[in-house]
Formats: sequence, C-alpha cells, structure tokens
Amino acid sequence: MRNYYIAGNWKMHKTRAEAAALASALVTQLKDGKHQYLVAPSFTSLETVAPLVKGSNIRLGAQNMAAEEQGAHTGEISVLQLKDLGVQAVILGHSERRHTYHEDDALINKKVKLALQHGLEVILCVGELLSEREAGKAQEVCETQTVKGLAGVSAADLARVTIAYEPVWAIGTGKTATPEDADAIHAYIRQVVARLYGADKAQQILIQYGGSVKPDNAAQLMAKENIDGALVGGAALNPETFVPIANTCGGRSGGGVL
Ligand code: 13P
Repeated sequence: MRNYYIAGNWKMHKTRAEAAALASALVTQLKDGKHQYLVAPSFTSLETVAPLVKGSNIRLGAQNMAAEEQGAHTGEISVLQLKDLGVQAVILGHSERRHTYHEDDALINKKVKLALQHGLEVILCVGELLSEREAGKAQEVCETQTVKGLAGVSAADLARVTIAYEPVWAIGTGKTATPEDADAIHAYIRQVVARLYGADKAQQILIQYGGSVKPDNAAQLMAKENIDGALVGGAALNPETFVPIANTCGGRSGGGVL
C-alpha cells in the first residue's frame, strides 16, 4: 500500500534563523510521524536546514534547479551544488515556475532527467489554469505535462519520481479542488502513468495534491484512493498548521516506502 508523503514548499519565505526554528520544531514534532515528509526551504536556507533534518524522517528538498550541470548560468543553482548541500529531492515544474518564469515542458523535462541522473528524487508538479479547467481541459493539460515531463525517464528512475497535482487556481487562493475532483484527476494521471510504464508502476507512484491544503481539509482529500499526500505551501510555514496535515491519516497507515 502506498504510504502518504507530505511535503512543505516554503517558497520565498523565511530567513535562515526562521527556517532553522521551523525545521527544528518539525523534527521534534514529527519524530514519531508515520508518513514520509519533506521540507523545501529557499536555496539560502538549505545549508542551515540540512544538518537539522539529517538523520530524521524529514527529507531535504530544493524548490528548483538549473537544467545544466554547471557553467556560465548567472543566477542559477546546479544539481551538483544542491547535492553538495545534502539535498535529496527537488520540486520541478511548479506552476509558479511555469507561469511566472515561463518554464516550458521541454525545460522541465531536461531538469527532471538531470536530477534523476544525479540520484535526486523529483517532485514533478502538474496542474491546469482556471481557464483550462473551465474549458474542460484539465485532464488534457495534466496528461501533456505528465507525458512531456517524464519523457525519456526510465522505469527504474520513475521509482524516484512523485507527481504533485496542483491546480493553479487553487494555489494560495483558499480555493481547494473538491476531494472528488482532485481524485478524478489523480486517477487520470495514474492511467497516464500506466500507459507509459505499466499498471504496477502506476499503482506504486505517489501522487500528492497541492493547492490550499489546510488542517481542516487534508483528511477529506487524503481519504481518496488516489491522493497519496500533499504538497503544502502557506500552511507549511508554521508547525501549528503543518504538523496536523503531516499527521493526517485518511485511512492508510505508515509502512510503505517511496
Ligand atoms: P498553497 O498551499 O499556499 O496553496 O500552495 C500550494 C503550493 O503551491 C505548494 O507547492
């Protein structure tokens, strides 16, 4: 059975001191947690947070990385630099990268392959805009982003990929997809993975939901068959809201591995 995987995307928040305080609180409060956890601080706080989560049940993630290994790329951060800091996973294709910073599927795919080639885990974000949902294109958009994001990824490497379905209209807006609507897209993404990699891999892959996940809606979302955890933004910024989400058990208990 798939275990839940709950990740906190801290986005462009927290000084190093604030990040350290949050990470330390989470390590203490989640030490008996039954699920899998990750925090993704800003690049500037990775070195501070790394030793605090080391050896705990919380993985260290980055929010993005360059598509090239190294070189003349002013302002970018390379996979080698992330690994050097002890980063284990990287969030790629977040809607803020796609829509504010115009990253396309080809660039995201290049990053996905580079991260996997260097042994990192990947959280690949997909999700439709409100206009796309209203035009009945939510499935099609998620399918395209999944297929193009995973192009060239081997079945063996897929074991290190988690997909996060984040409908863009639900991010930071207080609007959440209904558990039924979210589950339907998750099921659809799972079918896409089955077509690409076979039914077994599709059953194993973890698909997180993201978009205004809060302590009061997490349980209903995670009770759904195809929702395997959450990628949390605003509510990940303090332990009072992240820990209850991280402890949510929508019916499945721990035990599984990524
Ligand atoms: P919110 O939880 O603030 O809506 O953000 C979701 C998100 O974008 C996580 O990556």
